[in-house]
Amino acid sequence: SYYTEKYRPQLHFSPARNWINDPNGLVYHKGKYHMFYQYKPYGDKWGNVSWGHAVSKDLVHWEQLRVALTPDELGPIFSGSIVVDRHNTSGLFKESSEGLVAIYTSAGEMQQQSLAYSTDEGITWTKYKGNPVIPNPGIKDFRDPKVMWYEKEYKWIMALAAGDHIQFYSSKNLTAWKYMSRFGENEGSHGGVWEVPELIELPVDNDPNNTKWLLKVDINPGSVAGGSGGQYFIGAFDGMRFINENPPNEIRWVDYGKDFYAAQTWFNTGSRKVWIGWMNNWQYADVTPTNPWRGAMSLPRELALKTFRGEGVKLIQMPVKELKGIRKNQYQWKNEKVMPGKNILSSINGKTVEIAAEFELGSASEFGFKVRKSAAEETVIGYDTERHILFVDRTYSGEFIFSPAFAGRYEAILNPIRDRIKLHIFVDWSSVEVFGNAGEIVFTDLIFPNPSSNRIELYSENGYVKLSSLIVNELESIWQ
Ligand code: FRU
Repeated sequence: SYYTEKYRPQLHFSPARNWINDPNGLVYHKGKYHMFYQYKPYGDKWGNVSWGHAVSKDLVHWEQLRVALTPDELGPIFSGSIVVDRHNTSGLFKESSEGLVAIYTSAGEMQQQSLAYSTDEGITWTKYKGNPVIPNPGIKDFRDPKVMWYEKEYKWIMALAAGDHIQFYSSKNLTAWKYMSRFGENEGSHGGVWEVPELIELPVDNDPNNTKWLLKVDINPGSVAGGSGGQYFIGAFDGMRFINENPPNEIRWVDYGKDFYAAQTWFNTGSRKVWIGWMNNWQYADVTPTNPWRGAMSLPRELALKTFRGEGVKLIQMPVKELKGIRKNQYQWKNEKVMPGKNILSSINGKTVEIAAEFELGSASEFGFKVRKSAAEETVIGYDTERHILFVDRTYSGEFIFSPAFAGRYEAILNPIRDRIKLHIFVDWSSVEVFGNAGEIVFTDLIFPNPSSNRIELYSENGYVKLSSLIVNELESIWQ
């Protein structure tokens, strides 16, 4: 078997070799999920980026294909998106046939938006002769076009990052773009430059007749856990402009860990919206201790909106159901009292596991799981009962000296519901992902533990916690 190097993700996409960052051009087409990504084919540090390419039938198992888009006279190929031009609105395809159109940033001396098109399912691409389709208007950071189809007005809409705000453009044909509006210079967090936006329509509380729009904007640096990360806004979109329904100074974070960035959704998946992010942070992405590859994607997550009393509508993220397909042995517990000093998971070892637990709060001041554990190492996923805080502590998770920004503990408020909290955790060879309650609080964090740190502990401190239910699934590698 392959893909067994130290720290090689077993549940996540990573390239065979060399550097990746943002997912790009996510599109579902002819039964396959395509994932392009920022890629350096000849090196393991960022620079002169191309678009790499991988495909999957189930969002879980990936096959890496040849490099799709390489730098040209307009510059390296920065992040962007792909659409299926079903009605040949672009005129780039033969009469009444469809094809894929990539909209990306040409990042030469200036950042401008360009097109390429493909008639062979994204394997080979032709750059559009009229590039750039949106020339640089005198804005230094002007990039990351994410295009969607706006059925109501039969037009394409582009969200574009422009330094400290988002610009919206529209087009009937993907080649001629009209500026419509801007959003954000006085809204949300501005600790860093705004990047990789996306506007997504989602039903509220599963009601297809009541939708709202989510605008996701990444910032680098200045995110909640330090360095790069994502924020989102909830509101309305009238075909022209986005209107935030919350106070402008309110900040909503996509993920409370350090390693979820530049997410985008797959185009063409109907009302189901699934996104994936780059599982990394610009603070140390160039120096993570992996070889011969550097960089991996998160697990794909399905998106929803849910109303919370006192907090309004919030983003919900859940791991896609397709991940059930890699479950192996399953262990179950019900109605256990978890006491200090006794680990009911002492007989289970695992480096690729899924944990799903529901707790009823008791007298314990803190409880949770310690994963990838040995005498010297542990990654703690804990809940502070008094402060209602969920946290991931990777201070002693393993290797950390490659960057002073790596070791740390990350926190978020997770309110119990009728005195209960739920945790859904995915542990891999070099990461943990934690979904709190219904998925309203998420942590994504890289870890670099010794391969022999494989124990799991369920712990409680200063009292008991009631475990209503617990399922531990061993997972098989996606690389078989
Ligand atoms: C986000 C980003 C994008 C840019 C790309 C360059 O991580 O900085 O804004 O297009 O990476 O690789």
